[in-house]
Amino acid sequence: MSSIDRYDDIGRIEKYDADMDVMHPNRGKMADIALDFLAGLNAAPIRVLDLGCGTGFVAERLAQRFSGVNITCLDGAQNILDLAKSRLEKHNNRIVYKCSDFRELAGLELEPASFDAVVSSYALHHLNAAEKVDVLRECRELLVPGGLLFNADLVKNESPEFETRIQDLRVEGILERAGAGDERFANKAETHAYLGEMERAEGDQPLDVEADLALFREAGFSHVSVLWLEYREAVICAQN
Ligand SMILES: C[S@@+](CC[C@H](N)C(=O)[O-])C[C@H]1O[C@@H](n2cnc3c(N)ncnc32)[C@H](O)[C@@H]1O
Repeated sequence: MSSIDRYDDIGRIEKYDADMDVMHPNRGKMADIALDFLAGLNAAPIRVLDLGCGTGFVAERLAQRFSGVNITCLDGAQNILDLAKSRLEKHNNRIVYKCSDFRELAGLELEPASFDAVVSSYALHHLNAAEKVDVLRECRELLVPGGLLFNADLVKNESPEFETRIQDLRVEGILERAGAGDERFANKAETHAYLGEMERAEGDQPLDVEADLALFREAGFSHVSVLWLEYREAVICAQN
């Protein structure tokens, strides 16, 4: 099953946002960091591409924050894109939806240099390094000169020992937030096992931060920076 198939699975996605609150409580903060940065640099972002938009969590924040924004929400899974459409109903006059694999951006015939910013949240870690460079190159083609790409995503620690400790801290946090009653998070061992199985099923392959930054540079971006990093989550900004 591919990462896209997993997000077409109604059983998985109907609990998706609630699960994200338990498993990734920094998601809102990470999106806000990207949008704060974008707001400060550009008078008003006009055209934004959201890669792997999922249920529209980031797109909703964008639409609420920038009254003139036009958003292209792209995701490979039609069922999760439908959830985004209903979440974003009142903004839908400013949103275009595209159901496509983001590894095939080139085939979508999006106009070159037609976006002021590209945002992506918890999506690009599904790609291997070669795929990721290709997607980043395509994003550069789509960005105006000086346009910004924000990737709020998972990273792994380059030290296996540190990674083990970080995973333990992650599980402790999940157990606190999940409370009683969720069998997936009954105890530490169950939680580690559930997360491991989920990450295998979804083909997660996060990179360490240095390797990740190198891919953005390889794709031709300049001013590649980590705006925020905590344990295994980072917000990277790169300029075309
Ligand atoms: C973990 S969710 C993140 C959703 C949303 N951006 C968020 O922050 O909540 C990952 C999303 O990326 C999409 N995705 C994964 N691989 C993809 C690919 N190759 N092409 C297009 N979408 C993909 C999935 O369908 C899913 O909706």
